[in-house]
This record gives sequence, structure tokens and C-alpha cells, in this order.
Amino acid sequence: MADTAVADGRRLLAARLAGDPDLTEILTRYDRWAPDLWDGLSVVYDAATVLPQVIEVIARVHLDRSASLRQRDRERLLRPDWFQAADAIGYVAYTDLFAGDLQGVRSHIDYLRDLGITYLHLMPLLTPRPGENDGGYAVMDYRSVRADLGTMDDLSALASDLHAAGISLTLDLVLNHVAREHEWAMKARGGDPHYRDYFHVYPDRAIPDAYEKDLPEVFPAFAPGNFTWDDGLDGWVWTTFNEWQWDLNWANPDVLVEFADIIGFLANRGADCIRLDAIAFTWKRLGTNCQNQPEVHALTQALRSAAHIMAPALLFKAEAIVGPQDVVAYLGQGEHAGKVSDLAYHNSLMVQIWSALAARDGRLLATALSRFRPIPVTSAWATYLRCHDDIGWAIDDADAVAVGWDGFGHRSFLAEFYAGEFDGSFARGMHFQSNPETGDRRTSGSAASLAGVEAALESGSTAALDTALDRLICAYAMVFGFGGLPLLYMGDELGMLNDHTYEDDPAKSDDNRWLHRPEMDWTLARHDSGVTERVFTAIRRLITARKALPALHAAVATEAFVTDDPAVLVFRRRHPAGTLIEVYNLSEETRVLWPGSVSPLDPGPLLEHISGRTIDLGAPVRLPPYAAWWLTAPE
Ligand code: GLC
Repeated sequence: MADTAVADGRRLLAARLAGDPDLTEILTRYDRWAPDLWDGLSVVYDAATVLPQVIEVIARVHLDRSASLRQRDRERLLRPDWFQAADAIGYVAYTDLFAGDLQGVRSHIDYLRDLGITYLHLMPLLTPRPGENDGGYAVMDYRSVRADLGTMDDLSALASDLHAAGISLTLDLVLNHVAREHEWAMKARGGDPHYRDYFHVYPDRAIPDAYEKDLPEVFPAFAPGNFTWDDGLDGWVWTTFNEWQWDLNWANPDVLVEFADIIGFLANRGADCIRLDAIAFTWKRLGTNCQNQPEVHALTQALRSAAHIMAPALLFKAEAIVGPQDVVAYLGQGEHAGKVSDLAYHNSLMVQIWSALAARDGRLLATALSRFRPIPVTSAWATYLRCHDDIGWAIDDADAVAVGWDGFGHRSFLAEFYAGEFDGSFARGMHFQSNPETGDRRTSGSAASLAGVEAALESGSTAALDTALDRLICAYAMVFGFGGLPLLYMGDELGMLNDHTYEDDPAKSDDNRWLHRPEMDWTLARHDSGVTERVFTAIRRLITARKALPALHAAVATEAFVTDDPAVLVFRRRHPAGTLIEVYNLSEETRVLWPGSVSPLDPGPLLEHISGRTIDLGAPVRLPPYAAWWLTAPE
């Protein structure tokens, strides 16, 4: 059955593309990835019916793909690991906050290139609903650009300029939900049964109440509950996030076909990677929390395989902010290994770095990371210190117990510490979405403010400022030195602080994630002042050092452990290109590194790649506060 259907599909594709100069190439790709496409579809749908529809999309997208993007496909197929390599460095920005509009971004490409950036994620820029729109994550039209940012033509022009500068472009694909004002939702509200079936709609509370028993609330403070009554539908519609973000019904194959088409459309405008927003939520199952269901991975495999055939230069990046046991599946496990997303956010690493800095203790970090299952060698973590979202204190209870701590207690400590409430805290953050029922509190704030720069500036103490800046850079060194694709969040390279201006904007004021979404301060960027210059120089030094270290290629995993001193954390990367040992002092005190504590490197002079110094680990060595050392034996 499968073989016949896949062979029929090949004939269909060949007929649709007869005369196309690249027919042999696309059929070769079909032969390579159609079985994976079939397998993914079969888990969820009647694959024999859906496959021809997906092939129709593939043919259309291929015909619409420009000669230059087809050439990019060939180049990327020859170097499929470009995003895993040590020289891959990411940057994440809002178009308007970074540069006004898409034309503005074009005029700042030199800045990104000088910084060493090779990958740019522009935050949501497709047309959102009017008014509140969750920072653009309530999309009304996936085929047009938000009017004040420019047009689709501007986006394509920007993509080609970025490509010419050696920078790949990532766009968000919001696939769990659409805005209530999206055409599909409007038609459903108008009574069209075809589109009603794009959503999860229930006539009364019976089924919603049954689901609610196991569902958490993502925004308990401003959007409690997971269902919203809609008069047009005359029913309750599933709304995991805000009431104007309607969850899509991925059990309906028409939804998959629509999204395959949108993915092709965005790839053909020049996107190199799509960020699969909130992907964990896309499949619902009664009696579960409706996250991380196995079908999510089957659906991703189907879409990924279709993308490989129609636009092989395109990567998938999973935004699954889920626990350590669940997240690895987004890079592929078991039957899906190597067949789903290429990149996934390493939320645990981010949380653990902040946790280690607050506790001055790396044991929990080392324990949590050592429990991660391996990821496919063709994939990579997206590592980061901050992003546009809050930090959820995702400390696993079992990990905490393993180091003798209490999970709930440590999560409470972190929430209070980073809100600046804990005695002696260096941080200036804010609580986000406190949930009195669960005791859960998340945190907003910029990297510099959370790392202590804001408090140090307030105190006027130069010593405190030095310490805070060293702490911030130490944290970023872990992000850049972990392996995977490091993502620098806009403004962090300048040490930008919390921005309270959102409080005066009614469309933003109840969402304090805007605290860490400041407008880029180009005066800071151009006219070096103390803090800015120091952070910028240090970040640039990390980037330069990283690019010269092949051992940071993501195909090799990082082993993390602490020395006899819990404040001294070691990352070890055993790579065929040479072993890399990274040493981090997680405290504001000088520590001592004893000979033998970071083996297996031979004692003797080692090259420290960030500073360029030579360090001899054969004798006890002084490890300054927040030191970050990347060591290899000289050739
Ligand atoms: C993702 C986004 C977040 C948004 C949510 C709903 O988690 O990062 O900003 O609120 O999805 O789209």
C-alpha cells in the first residue's frame, strides 16, 4: 500500500513538473523523503488521500521557487550542518524595535555582520490582528507583512541582502493557533462547517470541562481557562493562550495541507528556517495536559519531509518550552530520529544557568544536563540566555532531589531571587503570571538587569558593576560554549536594561514581558559608553573565539560536571578536532582550580581561547570571580 501510494505520488509529481529544468533533482529528493512523509501522514490521517494533496503543494511551491533559492537548496544540501558549526551565531530581534521596519533592517546588516552574526530571527512580522496581539503571535494573515514593517517584496529583498551577507533568516510560524480575525476563523464564525472543523468547537461545557481537569493555564493572570465562548460559533472554542488566539484542529488534514502551503510560501520569500511556535500544544488528548503528544512528532515529520522535497534549504526550529524528558523528542527520538526539527530551544540550559548563578552552585545544572538523552547528530540545540518571553522556572523535582534540594523550594527561591526580593539578590526582574493555585511564578527582565548590572549602576559602586558585568559575560560564555546554535537576544550585546515604557501603553501594560523588549538604542551602539563598550567587546570576543573552535560543532555533546568546589563548573567537549575544556567560576569570589580537577587534558600549558593567554593547569591556579575559560592543548 505504502509503496504503491508513494510510487503513484512520484508519477503525479513528475506529471505536474513536466518540463521543469530541475525535475530530476526534485524527484531524487522525493525518493529520499517521500517514505518519511508517508509514515508521518499515516500516523494521523488517511495518508492515501492526503499525500496527493501535499504533492500538489510541493509542485506549486517548487514552480514558484526562484532560481537563486533553488541554487541555495543545492548549496545547503552540500553543507547540511551549517547551523551546527562553530561559526554559526544567531541574533533575535523585533523588526520595529531593532530598526523601524524591514528597510531599516537592511540598513543595519553591516552591524550584524561586524558582530559575526550568521543567522537572524526576526520576531513575528506577518499581519497580526488589530489591537492586542501577543507580540505578533496572533496572526491574521500568513501571506502579508504587518503594514508598518513593509511588504512581502521588502521581506524578499531583505532575505536576499542577508543571504549575500552570509546571514540566514528565520521567521515565526504560529501553527497552534490563528487570530480570531483570521479568514478561517471568520468563516467558521459565519457558519461555514468546513472552516468550523479547522478549530476545536464544543456546543456546551461538557467536553471542555473534561479537558480542563488536566490542562494547565498558560496565562492564568490575563487569560484564565482554555476555552472561550463565541457567539458566532454558538459554541466554546479552544483557546490555550488568549481568547483571541484560536487553537487549530490538527486532526483535520486540511489544516496540515494549508500549513504545508504556508511553509512553502515563506520559504520562497527567502526564509531559511521557520520557528514552530508553541508546537507542543498542537495535538489534544483527553486525560492529558495536551502537550507533547506523539502525534505532534508525526505531524512535524510529515511537514519536515514535504519541506525537504520542495525547499531543502529550509530548517525547522521547535519552540517547545517543555520539561527535559519531553524536549529531546522535538529533535527526533525513536522512529522520528533525524526526521523532525533541526533545532530546538534548550530551555533547561537557560534556566539552569540562571539557577547556578543565583545559587553560586553548578551541581543542579550538571545533574540536570547529564540526564538528557542524546540528540541526533544532525540536529542542534538553540542555546540562549534571554528571549522575548518570561523565564519559567522549569526545575525538575527529581533533579533537585538528586542534589539534595527541594524542587518547589528552589523554584520559589529563583522566582524571588530574580524579582529582587530575596535578601542580597543582585537581580532586578518582575514576577510574570503568578498563579496562587499552583504557587508558580515566572520572571521577566533583561539579561543585564537580571545579572545585576541595573542594581550595580544604582548602587554607584564600580566594584559591583565589574562583578555584574563579569557575571553577565560568564553566563553568555556558557551559552556560546555549550555547542549548538547560540542566540543573542537583541540589546544584550549592549547590556541593555529593563525598559518600563510599556507600562504607558494600554495594548501592552498588562503583559510585563515588554519589560525586556526594549527599543534598540543605536546611540549606545555607536557611541561607546562604559557598560555598552565593555559588554559589546566581550560578546564580540566570545563570538570570535567560538568561530575558531571546531570542537564546538553541535554533533558532539557537552559533558557538564563540577569540581570538588560546586561553584566551579566544567563543560567538556570531546571532539575529533580536539578536546575543549571550559571552566566557569559561578561566584563573585576567587576560587582555586586544583591540578587534575578538569582532566583528561594533559597538565601543562593550555591555550585559553577567549583571552588568548596560556594557562598551566599543572599547578593550582587562581580562578577569578566569574572567570570563563575555554581551554585546549596547543597543537
Ligand atoms: C510562544 C511565544 C510566546 C507566545 C506563545 C503563544 O511561546 O514565544 O511569546 O505568547 O507562543 O503564541
